Amino acid sequence: MDSDINRNTNLVSHGPVMMTARHVPGGRASFRPGEVWNDNHGVPINAHGGGVLFHEHSYYWFGEHKIEGEAGNRAQVGVHVYASRNLYHWNDEGIALTVEDDPASEITRGCILERPKVIHNQRTGKFVMWFHLEVKDTGYSGARSGVAVADQPTGPYRFLGSLRPNTYVWPENVPAEFKRPLNEEELAHVESLELGGAPRPYFPKQSIFRRDFASGQMARDMTLFVDDDRIAYHVHAAEDNGTLHISQLSHDYLRPGGRYIRIFPGRFHEAPALMKWQKRYFLITSDCTGWAPNAARIGAADSIWGPWEELGNPCLGSGATIANTFESQPTFILPVRGLPDAFIFMADRWRPKNAIDGRYVWLPIQFRHGIPMITWQDEWDLSFFSGNRQK
Ligand code: GAL
Repeated sequence: MDSDINRNTNLVSHGPVMMTARHVPGGRASFRPGEVWNDNHGVPINAHGGGVLFHEHSYYWFGEHKIEGEAGNRAQVGVHVYASRNLYHWNDEGIALTVEDDPASEITRGCILERPKVIHNQRTGKFVMWFHLEVKDTGYSGARSGVAVADQPTGPYRFLGSLRPNTYVWPENVPAEFKRPLNEEELAHVESLELGGAPRPYFPKQSIFRRDFASGQMARDMTLFVDDDRIAYHVHAAEDNGTLHISQLSHDYLRPGGRYIRIFPGRFHEAPALMKWQKRYFLITSDCTGWAPNAARIGAADSIWGPWEELGNPCLGSGATIANTFESQPTFILPVRGLPDAFIFMADRWRPKNAIDGRYVWLPIQFRHGIPMITWQDEWDLSFFSGNRQK
């Protein structure tokens, strides 16, 4: 607790330390996708499935803190946060949300706590974290969203509880005939289906959200997005991963706000990352193959409420590399402040056998024919984006 207080006092009075070459061996100012990336202590950054918040001149990178071995695929520590002013050099700001020792806690050590994202609520002044939560020893069946809140960007975050979004709410974009719960016969049919697995099984497109109407919608892989009007959205894999939901949050960002749509039903998109460029929304996702990488997909819409259109694979390059998104899975799209048209595609190269060794693949987004595209770079820096202006 003391160290948390010290950490935050430090942050309030001075802001995160501006990195200099002195803090980083070699003083490198470039991105090297897939290579080990050290923090200011020379320790590899430990923030997997992460996202970045920009607040008062600093970036804050939140992600899953992983430990060695397969045990690292479950939450043994919590959500790690790092701060930076230049995106190359990251200061370790410690554990923003700590797993709990109490076995009765929903975030007890050994639970599954994935893809944490943090947004700042200007009305309440609070920093709000959402993440995918699976209660310990229940596999991935819970499909819940955890919510935590803090007064400072680096925390400490207080866990408020978990929920399944949109209990007793019908999605806005389904025909009226499907806005009714399944009857017993329909439910028995749905329960007889193998909804996971590969090759992709038959998916009853108009059934699963109705099955989950009373229990709340499933929420696994997720991201948060704050629009220009400060309305925030929770984008999550629902319906046994078969369909993505875009769900508006309440004004305080602490709960679902009561409106949502379903997109790409039965297409099994995961790992959503959302950006807005020239008034258009773009959603980069993966297919659904667990830790193994697969081909990314991009969808676009003129309104966040749709209609959404699939545009294919946003990666350009040789067939082998774009078939697995450069061996990575999306986690976030980071808008670079002060640089027009500059977005960084953030992805994870998972190492499930030794989770702590998972790597970060950060690549610059380029616009071709008005569509965000990604090509591999061994090493790049922010000057890359000066080329985007001419496109
Ligand atoms: C992936 C998902 C990861 C993690 C993993 C577990 O599909 O994107 O966040 O949940 O499955 O197998």
